[in-house]
Amino acid sequence: MSSHAEEPNRRDFIVLAGSAFAAVGAAISLWPFIQQMNPDSSALALASVEVDLSPVASGQAITVMWRGKPVFIRNRTEEEVKAAKDFPVADLPDEVARNANVAADATATDENRTLPGHENWLIAIGICTHLGCIPKGQKIGDERGDFGGWFCPCHGSHYDTAGRIRKGPAPRNLDIPPYAFVSDTQIKIG
Ligand code: FES
Repeated sequence: MSSHAEEPNRRDFIVLAGSAFAAVGAAISLWPFIQQMNPDSSALALASVEVDLSPVASGQAITVMWRGKPVFIRNRTEEEVKAAKDFPVADLPDEVARNANVAADATATDENRTLPGHENWLIAIGICTHLGCIPKGQKIGDERGDFGGWFCPCHGSHYDTAGRIRKGPAPRNLDIPPYAFVSDTQIKIG
């Protein structure tokens, strides 16, 4: 059975308290308001952010802010990776990887949604591609949708464990931001 069907526990999620991310929760709750404002220099701050992944155990997730946008980071379990790999790309509503780190026309295989050697890490911009709501699935007890990834309750879009749209009105997979591993446990986004 895939892990998303299991009861979440307190170790499932971590909220980073580091100075760079201390305002993540507030920033996310303010997202609808931020969206309505023209971006100024403060909203565009932090052109790149480095994130220490070492506290994020398998099955856990964190959210960080990058250029004013929430970025979902999930350390996927083997079952979550397998579920994403096993689904045929040809049956996806959006067959394009939408990954800034691969070719623009790359297909949305699980490999093309992650980075080589780090396929357990799914890192995606946490903004629904329908009308811009923030999907659920990061917090303890959140609905994760029919495919164990993320669920956007605004109009019912279901994303899988690779952040690919599987059901609902969203037209595209969640975007993968430009990022790189600067060490085994550290990434730089942007
Ligand atoms: S904004 Fe997510 S389903 Fe409409």
